[in-house]
Amino acid sequence: MASRPAARALRQSIRQLAPAVQRRTFVSAINSGARAAVASAPKAAVFQQQVRGVKTVDFAGTKEEVHERADWPKEKLLEFFKNDTLALIGYGSQGHGQGLNLRDNGLNVIVGVRKNGTSWKEAEQDGWVPGKNLFDIDVAIGKATVVMNLLSDAAQSETWPHIKPLITKGKTLYFSHGFSPVFKDLTKVDVPTDVDVILVAPKGSGRTVRSLFREGRGINSSFAVYQDVTGGAKERAIALGVAVGSGYLYETTFKKEVYSDLYGERGCLMGGIHGMFLAQYEVLRERGHSPSEAFNETVEEATQSLYPLIGAHGMDYMYAACSTTARRGAIDWSKRFKETLKPVFNDLYDSVENGSETKRSLEYNSQPDYREKYNQELKEIDDLEIWRAGKAVRSLRPENAK
Ligand SMILES: NC(=O)c1ccc[n+]([C@@H]2O[C@H](COP(=O)([O-])OP(=O)(O)OC[C@H]3O[C@@H](n4cnc5c(N)ncnc54)[C@H](OP(=O)(O)O)[C@@H]3O)[C@@H](O)[C@H]2O)c1
Repeated sequence: MASRPAARALRQSIRQLAPAVQRRTFVSAINSGARAAVASAPKAAVFQQQVRGVKTVDFAGTKEEVHERADWPKEKLLEFFKNDTLALIGYGSQGHGQGLNLRDNGLNVIVGVRKNGTSWKEAEQDGWVPGKNLFDIDVAIGKATVVMNLLSDAAQSETWPHIKPLITKGKTLYFSHGFSPVFKDLTKVDVPTDVDVILVAPKGSGRTVRSLFREGRGINSSFAVYQDVTGGAKERAIALGVAVGSGYLYETTFKKEVYSDLYGERGCLMGGIHGMFLAQYEVLRERGHSPSEAFNETVEEATQSLYPLIGAHGMDYMYAACSTTARRGAIDWSKRFKETLKPVFNDLYDSVENGSETKRSLEYNSQPDYREKYNQELKEIDDLEIWRAGKAVRSLRPENAK
């Protein structure tokens, strides 16, 4: 039988998530089928031990170490970085989030961007002061003990011949993606051999890095060491991970970070899910369903009702919260989708591993008019019937109603 807190959580998620019009697959959430899954809902990773600064956590049978923010209170961070100048090179999505968090943590942080570019102006708007903690890239690197390379990946490659000689012995080189050093044959980012090279990759956009920090939480991040010449690179990576706003830090390698990241964003996180939305929507429309019906059944119910349940409690919980009719069909068809899609995912992984995705990204994103070209592509997406229908559906949400 369901534990009371779990049952309460289910009821609460139903109250919060059920749309004004109750969905067929959702109304039976309170039936007895749901209870079985509710009983197993809080089956999170099991914490096995806590030794200073590290937890060993059992992730479905595989034990991994996790580092957490609680082990690095502000005083400890200030002490650890008391002799450091952290220079954020680039002030885009990650530069903004990580930079403001570092500043709020009281660390000695400066920003280096090209003068009078978009980022320079944005940094000024965020309170960075030219000549005090906002500099041209070269000047900032000159002042830094930790060079945080947060330029776009294409720009990291483009600027490397200029930047590399400035990263002298004694500095630490930091990335938020394994892209540049791992694919060095393509990017030409061959790191100096006499500096520590580390990575902290937040699992989310820079805006989320900032908003979770402000909420007093913290984003999950990967961290890794590429090169440890001082013997202290790992501790420095963990400390920086906490300082930029991570709540939990999971160890990986540069290679695994970049492979999984490129693969994931092209797959379930973005590309795959968009492809699946389009395919489902188009079939519904071609078979005579209205735009609102096709959109509600493809996107709205997914994002507003069902995916949040997966996020909060897992897949079985979501299945259990649906009718037995929905559950039977979904479990059956998931096998067919998996079999059909797995070869596509293997092709995708190959394309990441053999550098094709990196090559494409570098070539495309280095073009002088890449921003305009993206804007055109995004406009085309925005103009698709599915997303136009989505706007109308969203306009009916109570919070958007005029
Ligand atoms: N965004 C994410 O969700 C995310 C998540 C995890 C990790 N990461 C990683 O974090 C790093 C930074 O990504 P981001 O998304 O924050 O980058 P971004 O928003 O694209 O930021 C680009 C920055 O690069 C600068 N820049 C671009 N071209 C330049 C050039 N030729 N010379 C000098 N500066 C140039 C821009 O300055 P101007 O304004 O002057 O052009 C801007 O400050 C990347 O390695 C990325 O893979 C990103």
